[in-house]
This record gives sequence, structure tokens and C-alpha cells, in this order.
Amino acid sequence: MPKTEPVFHPTLFPVLHALPWPAVLLDEEGRVVCANAAMEQRGLRPDPHSPPSLHEALPEYATALRGELREAQEALVTRQTEGKEVVERVWLRPIASGAVLIITDETRLAELETEHAQTVRLASLGFMLAGVCHEISNPLAAIHSMLQILETEGRRDPEVLARGLASISANVRRILEISRQLSGFSRAATEPRRPVAVDGVLEEALVLVRHERTYREVVVEHHKDPAAVVRANPRELLQVFFNVLANAVQAMEGRGRILVTTRRPGNEQVEIMIQDDGPGIRPEHLPKLFDPFFSTKARGEGTGLGLTISNEIVHEHGGRMRAESTYGKGARFYIELPLWKRRE
Ligand SMILES: Nc1ncnc2c1ncn2[C@@H]1O[C@H](COP(=O)(O)OP(=O)(O)OP(=O)(O)O)[C@@H](O)[C@H]1O
Ligand SMILES: [Mg+2]
Repeated sequence: MPKTEPVFHPTLFPVLHALPWPAVLLDEEGRVVCANAAMEQRGLRPDPHSPPSLHEALPEYATALRGELREAQEALVTRQTEGKEVVERVWLRPIASGAVLIITDETRLAELETEHAQTVRLASLGFMLAGVCHEISNPLAAIHSMLQILETEGRRDPEVLARGLASISANVRRILEISRQLSGFSRAATEPRRPVAVDGVLEEALVLVRHERTYREVVVEHHKDPAAVVRANPRELLQVFFNVLANAVQAMEGRGRILVTTRRPGNEQVEIMIQDDGPGIRPEHLPKLFDPFFSTKARGEGTGLGLTISNEIVHEHGGRMRAESTYGKGARFYIELPLWKRRE
């Protein structure tokens, strides 16, 4: 038996039962004293003589909420039911003598968010299409004319043959690289977003970048912030960090120092700064960095899509990207994303 019977206003019970969402009433000690009809349909029928704690009755929701049940809280809960993923929001509101907890289904909202992200992404791919066609037809035209030369001269001169094959191979590499960048971009948006610790993804990107072809010896200094959490698609975030880090390694020709700093300025944003001590960026190149196909790298070395796609991903997550550089003194990239808060 509860020590003291909670005194709830009598009108509360019919209101609770009339709610179309599953809801329960908690006493001041956080015990579930009443479940409404929608909640009972889920099989929760608390015994009024020995009311269970929230943890006993609804463990998934209790874990999502922070310990203190006397303050207003909201949290998102993703769970599997009948083989399907369901996204729910749990609302906790204190009232006289206890609190009320309501669960709303946000699965459709989460689906719409993913669909919207895909639509936006397809639109930006469409925008890039003319550029993509142009960028692919150039190497194809080069391959075509090289094949004609080889047909006539390649048979006689082994040197022409070797040079021709090398040129074809470089052009094919370029087309494959463009296709790889674009297909990664169109695929990733199908995964739902979830709270992600930024530094974990940065660490993954730092491991991946060691496999960069030009990587020799890079000293990395990583200042972390464990509370820097953003709501994101982790694979996309990895793509962004990897692109910026790969650019840094390439600019330094595989040797140098990279400084990565994660901060939370104003406690609303997460800011990731990635700085290298490579040659830096010419002032006239700075405004073009995020343009599709802008690249200063040799043919076959870069598509000029890395930063365009990264910028697109960051924008879709409600953030922004910028670059700073004094030519000759390295480059610095900033990625800002909204800080995820538990009550979001
Ligand atoms: N850290 C950096 N230092 C100096 N220049 C940079 C740096 N990062 C980017 N750049 C410049 O920005 C250009 C565009 O970068 P982006 O990542 O979009 O394309 P890319 O690296 O050339 O090609 P890809 O990413 O497909 O390999 C680069 O070619 C380079 O000139
Ligand atoms: Mg790049």
C-alpha cells in the first residue's frame, strides 16, 4: 500500500481515460497509480494496492526520461514492435500530487522527415546534373579520341600504346570517382537521424583517413567534448568529417599536423574545427570551395564534389560550414550543427 493515498482532482480520471494516447498517472514517489484505456490496451493494469514504479511498469520510457520526475520533460523513444520500428515521444508533466505521462506516436513524422531529406537531396542532385554530365563527358571524349589514336598508331608504337592506356585509365578513374561521390550522397539519406556524439564519428573519420593514398605521417591533436551531441545520420556525418580531413591530408601531402576541436559555443551549437598546417587556400579560391566541381587537384585526383556534398549534408542538418585560410599558413574548416538537447 502507498504510504499516503495521493489526492488527485476527481475530474482528472475521466480526462485521462478520454485521452486518445496512452497515458498514466504517477504519484509523488513516481509510482504508476492509474493507466488510461489506451495504455491498458497495451497490457498495463497497475495494481492500486501496490502500484509499480515507472521503471517496473514502463522501463523503456523510464530510461529515456532523466531520473527527476518532478520536472517537465520530453524524450524520443525508438523501439521495435511486431518487427516494425516505432518512434514515440514521451511527455512528462508535473501536476498537483504527482505527474502525468503521455506517449504520442511520431513514427509518421520521422518517416516524413526522412522522405523530405531525400526529396531535398534529389533536388540538389538534379541541380548538379548539368555539371555532372559535363564532367563525365570530358573524360569520355578523351577516352574516345585516345582509342582512335591507339587503333591507328598503338599497334606500331609501344610507347604510344603505354601512354594511351595510362590516359584511359586516369579518365576512367575520374568517372568512377564522380560516380562514387554521388552514389554515396543519394543513398545515405534513407537512414533515420538519431542523437550522435560528434567525437565518436570524428575518431572514426580519423581512422579512415589513414588509408588515404597520400597519408604518410600526420600528428593529430583532438580536443573533445563528450556533451557535443547532434541529431544526425551518423554515416552522413562521417562523410562530412572524412571529406574535410582527407582534403587536409591531401593538402599537406601526407605529412603535418591536424588539430580537431569540438566545442559548444552558447550551448546551442556544436562547432567542429579542423585545422591543418598545409599550404592554405588562395584568397581567390575561398569563395569557390563549396561550388560543384571546383578542384585544384590534378585530373583524376579530385572530383571537386567533396566539399559540395559535405556542405549540402550540413545544411540539411540545420547547420553551416565555412573555411578560413591565410595563404601559406594552413587552412581551417568550421562545421556548425545544432546541439541536440534531451527535451527536443
Ligand atoms: N585543407 C585544405 N587546404 C588547401 N586547400 C583545400 C583544403 N580543403 C579544400 N581545399 C581546396 O578546395 C578544393 C575543393 O575541395 P573538394 O573536397 O570539394 O574537392 P577535391 O578535394 O578537389 O575533390 P574530391 O573531394 O572529390 O577528392 C580542393 O581542390 C582544394 O583546392
Ligand atoms: Mg576533397
